[in-house]
Amino acid sequence: MVARTCLAIVLAAGEGTRMRSARPKVLHAVAGKSLLAHVLAAVSDTSVTATAVVVGPNDSAVAAEAEHVLPGAECFIQAERRGTAHAVLAARRAIERRADDILILYGDTPLIRPATLLQLRKAIAEGAAVAVLGFRPDDPAGYGRLIVEGDQLIAIREEADADASERAVALCNGGIMAMAGETALAILDRIGDQNRKHEFYLTDAIEIARGMKLRAVAVEVEEDDMRGINSKKQLAEAEATAQQRLRQAALNAGVTLVAPETVYLCADTQFGRDVVIEPYVVFGEKVTVEDGAVIHSFSHIAGTHVGKGVSVGPFARLRPGTRLGEGARIGNFVEIKEAVVEAGAKANHLSYIGDAFVGANANVGAGTITCNYDGAAKHRTEIGKDAFIGSNSALVAPVKIGDGAYVGSGSVITQNVPADALAIGRSRQTVKEGWATRLRGLKTLGTKKAHAPD
Ligand code: UD1
Ligand code: CA
Repeated sequence: MVARTCLAIVLAAGEGTRMRSARPKVLHAVAGKSLLAHVLAAVSDTSVTATAVVVGPNDSAVAAEAEHVLPGAECFIQAERRGTAHAVLAARRAIERRADDILILYGDTPLIRPATLLQLRKAIAEGAAVAVLGFRPDDPAGYGRLIVEGDQLIAIREEADADASERAVALCNGGIMAMAGETALAILDRIGDQNRKHEFYLTDAIEIARGMKLRAVAVEVEEDDMRGINSKKQLAEAEATAQQRLRQAALNAGVTLVAPETVYLCADTQFGRDVVIEPYVVFGEKVTVEDGAVIHSFSHIAGTHVGKGVSVGPFARLRPGTRLGEGARIGNFVEIKEAVVEAGAKANHLSYIGDAFVGANANVGAGTITCNYDGAAKHRTEIGKDAFIGSNSALVAPVKIGDGAYVGSGSVITQNVPADALAIGRSRQTVKEGWATRLRGLKTLGTKKAHAPD
C-alpha cells in the first residue's frame, strides 16, 4: 500500500458488564496481556500514524494501560455514555487532523489481526467512504445486521430496530470499521439519536454515507477475529483461540511442542531454533528461550531468559528475573527468582535460589536454599564459578562463596567463604561404640530406667 496516513480510534469507555469484576473490562487478560493491549498491538502492527483511545471519566486505569503499552497513544474522555458514534466524536480533535484512513475499533475485541485491519484500509484506499468488518456468528443475537445489495453495504440495522426479515440476515456487524478521513467528520456529525435506545449509533454512518452519494462496503472475515468479550465465558473462549494461534505460530517457527494443547504461552513468549517443550508447561509474561533448550513437563516459567541448550524441569519454577546461561541445568523441584545462573552451572534437585548469582559450572547440591529474606529485607547470595555447594546447605544472605570453594553438606553458612576453601557449618559427628548393644541389654533386663545409655 502507498504510504497513507491512518488514525486508529479505540473505543474503551467502561461499562456495566457481566464480567462481575472490579476491574474494567478491557483490562482483563488474554494470553497474559490486557484486551486493550492486544487491540493496540494489532493497531500498531498496521502501521498507523496516530492512535486515540476513548475512555470513560472514571477509567484512569484504562488510560494508564494505554499509555503503558503504546506511549504515543492519545486518550480522550467521553464524559457521558451516549453511543458508539458519540464515543468516536470524543476524539474529534484527532479526527480533524485529517488522516487518509480512520480505523475504529472496540477495546474488547482482542483477537483482531493486523491483516484483517489492512483489508479494511485497502477498501478505503480503493474508494469506499466506509468499510465494515462482517462475520457470520453461530448465534447472531445482539449483533447489528449488515444489509448488503450487490457489492455495496446499504445499511446496518441494530437488532433492537430490525424487522423480522432483517433479523434473518446472517451477516453481522463485528463493530470494527474504517472511514475515509476526508468525509468522516461530515458523516459522523450527521448521526442523530432517533432510535429505540436514544443513542448515537456509529452504524448509522452507512445510510448517511449513501445519502451523500458515497460508497460503503462490507468485508467478511472469520468469527474468531471479531470475538467481543462481555463475560468471563467469552474471555475463556478468547483465551482458547489466542492459545491456539500462539501454539500454531510456535510450531510454524520450528518449536517442538510434543502436546501443543497442553502448553500455555504468552503473547510475548519468544523461542529460538530447535527448542523442545514437553507436555504441560506454562509460560508467563516475558520469557525468551534460546536455541536447543529443552523445557521438561510441568514447569512454570515467567520473566525468564533461558539460554542456549539449557535443560529445565520437570517440575521447575522459574520466576521473574531469572537468567540461565548456556548449558545450565535446572532440575526437578527447583525454584529460582531474581538470579543469574551462569553457563554450565547446575541445580538439579529441590532448591530455592533467590536474589543470587551462581557462577559458571558451579554445582548447587540437592536441597540447597538461599536464605534471602530476614523478615524485613532481601539480601544477595553470590556463588563463585566452579564452587560446589553440598546438599542440604542453607546459605544465609548476604553471603559470598568464593570461586572453586566447597561447602560441606548440611551446612548453615553465615560468613563469606574464600575461594578454593572448604566451609563446614554443622556440628561434628560423634560415634558411640557399642551404644546400641548397651541399649538392647538394658531392655532385656527389664529396667525401668527411663533414659538411654551414655
Ligand atoms: C455494537 C454495534 C453492533 C455490533 C456490535 C459488535 C452500534 C450501535 N452497534 O453493538 O452493530 O454488532 O457492537 O460487538 O455501534 N462505547 C463507548 N461509548 C459509548 C458506547 C459504546 O466507548 O457511549 C464502546 C464500548 O466500550 C464498546 C464499544 O463501544 O467497546 C461497543 O459498545 P456496545 O455498547 O458494546 O455496542 P453493542 O450494543 O454491542
Ligand atoms: Ca458489545
